[in-house]
Amino acid sequence: MHEEEPMKREKGEFLENLYGKLSQDQPGQKEELRYHPHGQLSFEEIRSLDEKYILPTYSRLPVSFVYGSGEFLYDSEGREYLDFLGGIAVTSLGHAPADLIESLTRQADMLWHTSNLFYSQQQVLLARALVEINFPGKVFFCNSGTEANEAALKIMRAYGQKKDKHKFKIISLLNSFHGRTFGSMSVTGQEKIHGGFGPLLPGVEYVTPNNTQELEEKAGPELCGIILEPIQGEGGVLPLEKEFIQKARDICDKHSALLCFDEIQTGMGRCGSYFVYQQLGILPDILTMAKGLGGGFPLGAVLVAEKYCDVLAEGMHGSTFGGNHLACAVAYEVIRTMESRKLVDEVRSKGIYLAAGLKRLGEGFPEHIVGIRGLGLLQGIVLNERLEARRLVEKALDEGLVIGRAGKHVLRLAPPLTVRQASIDQALGKLKSLFSKI
Ligand SMILES: Cc1ncc(COP(=O)(O)O)c(C=O)c1O
Repeated sequence: MHEEEPMKREKGEFLENLYGKLSQDQPGQKEELRYHPHGQLSFEEIRSLDEKYILPTYSRLPVSFVYGSGEFLYDSEGREYLDFLGGIAVTSLGHAPADLIESLTRQADMLWHTSNLFYSQQQVLLARALVEINFPGKVFFCNSGTEANEAALKIMRAYGQKKDKHKFKIISLLNSFHGRTFGSMSVTGQEKIHGGFGPLLPGVEYVTPNNTQELEEKAGPELCGIILEPIQGEGGVLPLEKEFIQKARDICDKHSALLCFDEIQTGMGRCGSYFVYQQLGILPDILTMAKGLGGGFPLGAVLVAEKYCDVLAEGMHGSTFGGNHLACAVAYEVIRTMESRKLVDEVRSKGIYLAAGLKRLGEGFPEHIVGIRGLGLLQGIVLNERLEARRLVEKALDEGLVIGRAGKHVLRLAPPLTVRQASIDQALGKLKSLFSKI
């Protein structure tokens, strides 16, 4: 495994600066609303302003991070954490990687935004790289995962409508997650995500994961597309069976429909190949990606196979910010770094190492852990149903470990692809300590 010096920046110096500025404040002034040009608010100040000014759509954990380096995070009170969530599988090269900072600041110095009315060097270079690591086709850029799926759904519908006005059915899977905007929410197979927003997009049918018979029964000539995650991320880090995915491919071919793999969470090297479909040997017609693509800078993309590149014609889709110069410059550097460091190969060996450690952890706590599942550096710890994942995520924070959850009873680990073996050992130690205290 590739080992190198931790990419830690000088934390002491940075925080001293922040707190130095804050300590010059007069105590009474702190309560007033005022501009903090350099000073760092305390956690309680941040929490109270959040309550007052931010819509309550998130169930936040009681911490605010101000600084990051590699796989380490530091909170507003100066405490260090090991980050095994990576902003939900986003900061794939860790926090503040030097190469990304350089490409971002270089681009920031030159040009930020011009819109899609004009040609962009950053977009074409990135699109070419995405095609080269995938399959021949063309790319549409957007800003997030849900937008990438919206574009995919529009392509499916436009493709169907060109053939026959009744060809508009889209199949997605129960327990899936594809995003929060209307189309992506409608194909998300979880009622808790739909609650209170009906009616949803018409023409969507859900199929039980890995049930090939149900898939066959629900498909027909009216089918225009199937969307699925090869590993259901939010649904509990649940890999689909290869036979099921192959059946989806065959059904799309049979009914002349488009197969979309949503690899927003599993893609960009996280599972030990750029995308999971490459390990399965089953090609999609549409591939959606986001999260790790920009290494922490917001960016989404849809790659459409060559045969279907004429489905969306001029004026049929667009985005003001999509493919912004800064985002594309950073994402290009993400791929360049992954290539030069052979990171995808590294992920494979680190993933095996992490999974083996988690398996040992599970064997040590059979009353709490019922299984380990995942691929590469996307791993899920399946808990005994007595245990709420949310509560354990909070307890992990007390241990100085940031992890996530996927569903009610699964803990999700998604460390940066650059994570060092010593940090994996450290995280396993913290998990052991956590489970021994339950
Ligand atoms: C598989 C998958 N698709 C889509 C999305 C939505 O992405 P975003 O939150 O960037 O809109 C997510 C986010 O978790 C995801 O995991």
